[in-house]
Amino acid sequence: MSNIQLNINYVCDFVSQEEILSQAEKATACNKALYDGSLPGNDFLGWVSLPSSISEDHLRDIENTAKELRTLCDVVVVVGIGGSYLGARAVIDALSNSFDWLQDADKRKNPVILYAGNNISEDYLHEMLHYLKDKRFGLINISKSGTTTEPALAFRLLKDLLEEKAGKEEARKRIVAITDASRGALRTLANTEGYKTFIIPDDVGGRYSVLTPVGLLPIAVAGINIRKLVEGALEMENASGTDTDFEYNLPAIYAVIRNLLYKKGKKIEILANYHPKLHFLAEWWKQLYGESEGKDNLGIFPAAVDFTADLHSMGQWIQEGERTIFETVISIQEPNERVHIPHDKNDLDGLNFLQGKGVDEVNKMAELGTLIAHVDGGVPNILINLPKLNEKYIGQLIYFFEKACGIACYLLGVNPFNQPGVEAYKKNMFALLDKPGYEAESAEIKARL
Ligand code: PA5
Repeated sequence: MSNIQLNINYVCDFVSQEEILSQAEKATACNKALYDGSLPGNDFLGWVSLPSSISEDHLRDIENTAKELRTLCDVVVVVGIGGSYLGARAVIDALSNSFDWLQDADKRKNPVILYAGNNISEDYLHEMLHYLKDKRFGLINISKSGTTTEPALAFRLLKDLLEEKAGKEEARKRIVAITDASRGALRTLANTEGYKTFIIPDDVGGRYSVLTPVGLLPIAVAGINIRKLVEGALEMENASGTDTDFEYNLPAIYAVIRNLLYKKGKKIEILANYHPKLHFLAEWWKQLYGESEGKDNLGIFPAAVDFTADLHSMGQWIQEGERTIFETVISIQEPNERVHIPHDKNDLDGLNFLQGKGVDEVNKMAELGTLIAHVDGGVPNILINLPKLNEKYIGQLIYFFEKACGIACYLLGVNPFNQPGVEAYKKNMFALLDKPGYEAESAEIKARL
């Protein structure tokens, strides 16, 4: 059983219950295809049964490696891009104390987690190298292909610094590589240097890999309970299997509604949250849906907002801009901590009417007020309710979104597991940089400048 609830009352004015139910058979067939491999992309279905197939030995290996890194390092840099870092960052940000990393090393509960290899900014790398030069740091280098330019470049720089400061022997203990079992430059490097490695299974694509060591190792290093995360994901796996009726299959219902809205001209989906901790969950979701659905000139454009901050920027557009959007709101029912609003003798800010209330009560009314305003403004709203922010419910949410994405892509008629469009920029960049082997492309592109 899953604890996540889907509230679809606020899409009724835009899609009827009959329309939703009319898609039940098709959605059920799409869900089934994720198990029997009868539709395109069938060599990338390993993620479907990841939660139920993770072994005790594998979990213990990840936990032990995380423990070792936590002992040896005050800072751990996760080097990776796209699916090789967003899942870890989404979970770590959602479940960590927002300010722990600002504490002195002896007061912090967990190592500081930093991220590199997700951009090619010289300033960013310079500042990171400067920050790390007197820190006890380690590296988790993640790349499935083992050949991606951004992480390879960052790792080269970070590894040099680590070896220079800590020595080659100690550096080796503080580096973990997560990559393909046998292919790619990172596998060769890891084998040559003798790094501890974890394998990314062949049948799990980058953006579906958060429940492999790609996500689980950094998440465990950050002090988060990966067993509970996997347990939550398993509950959603069980609640959305081929034997689950459509009416109870939450990922299938979400997939159907967004597909119906898309067909009615709602081409943009905005994922909204009311907690800054969820910013990177939305970044992960954007990649999952953007890379999976956006092909063959089709696909909903996934956007995200952080409320209430963005109500003071994007709120105007959402309320009154072009009516091609719908919203999916991640709603957290209970905060983990309480802060009550105090009485003020002078009440100059006029807030005494709120005295004694928890801050979350105000947040909830902002959420409800926004929901009603946006629906009144012609924006369908899908609500995903989580009881609170913890490992188990985030695990459920991850699997919910992954499963819904697979079904949604099959409903749309696209392969959820490839990303041919991502190669275009790489080819041009290599040609412009005169990479050996790109001579013809180089001449061609330079002639266009
Ligand atoms: O979802 C995907 O497959 C991509 O986003 C990849 O994760 C990303 O391009 C990084 O690839 P790699 O892990 O091979 O370095």
